[in-house]
Amino acid sequence: MASTQATGQILDGKAVSQQRLAELATVLQRLSAERATDEHPPKLVVVLVGDDPASQVYTRRKTTVAQEIGLESELITLPGNTTEADVLALIATLNADATVHGILVQLPLPRHINQQTVLHSVAPHKDVDGFHPYNLGCLLAGDDIPYQALPCTPAGMMSILKHYDIEIAGQHAVVIGRSTIVGKPMAQLLLAANATVTLCHSRTANLASHTQQADIVVAAVGQPNMVTASMLKPGAVVLDVGINRLPDGRLCGDVDFDSAKTVASYITPVPGGVGPMTIATLMENTVNLYQRSLGKK
Ligand code: GUN
Repeated sequence: MASTQATGQILDGKAVSQQRLAELATVLQRLSAERATDEHPPKLVVVLVGDDPASQVYTRRKTTVAQEIGLESELITLPGNTTEADVLALIATLNADATVHGILVQLPLPRHINQQTVLHSVAPHKDVDGFHPYNLGCLLAGDDIPYQALPCTPAGMMSILKHYDIEIAGQHAVVIGRSTIVGKPMAQLLLAANATVTLCHSRTANLASHTQQADIVVAAVGQPNMVTASMLKPGAVVLDVGINRLPDGRLCGDVDFDSAKTVASYITPVPGGVGPMTIATLMENTVNLYQRSLGKK
């Protein structure tokens, strides 16, 4: 149980992700050796619309890590004034392209493009983010689809909890943030793992009264250092999704790490916690979608 642990143990997402990526590289080598000459190698395509600096960094990282483990990847960058129709046309082409196994449209999209319309247009069997309503519906329904892609950040956090053997069943988990990228699917995954889940958001009254009862806290709000030690129950497990840039250029999470680590049993750092696991999970999802496309698994 978390409460019997010493305080402030680091959940080293970077180390766990490196282990996961090394395993995937081995799988990819095996798949390459087994591949028939007329079969295409696994490929991830990342689509970035616009020039948001953070999105540029994230998408470049995704395609670079893919290449490092032997996964083909392509970053397609479109100008910020690209029309929704042109984005949809690109996705239709990628959906129909047998050499492409995973499609990721980096979010957020420019305001003139309807995010839902675009996410709905990605073929569910190429949806590496698990954001298509079919895949989100399967998550909600608890359907056990072996090679369905789960949203990368929540699935990555579940992998961290599993890696460190942290108990989830029967625990009270408080998720702060109700985005479709993180908060909602994370609440669902924790529920599926038999946690009792509270989903808090910007309109939650007295947030601290909820977090103070939590055995597991997931902070996904995008506000620097917003969760402080006084908001945590001693021994809580703290997962910090935030990546915020401070005025002095340093990165920090949504959790005030220095104070929270004196109270938490386990805590993810920023950087080096949840972020690397998101990328490793994306790679895992791509390899899984590829294997499913072959009908081998
Ligand atoms: N923007 C921030 N996180 C994500 C993510 O996991 N997937 C996509 N597509 N965009 C994001």
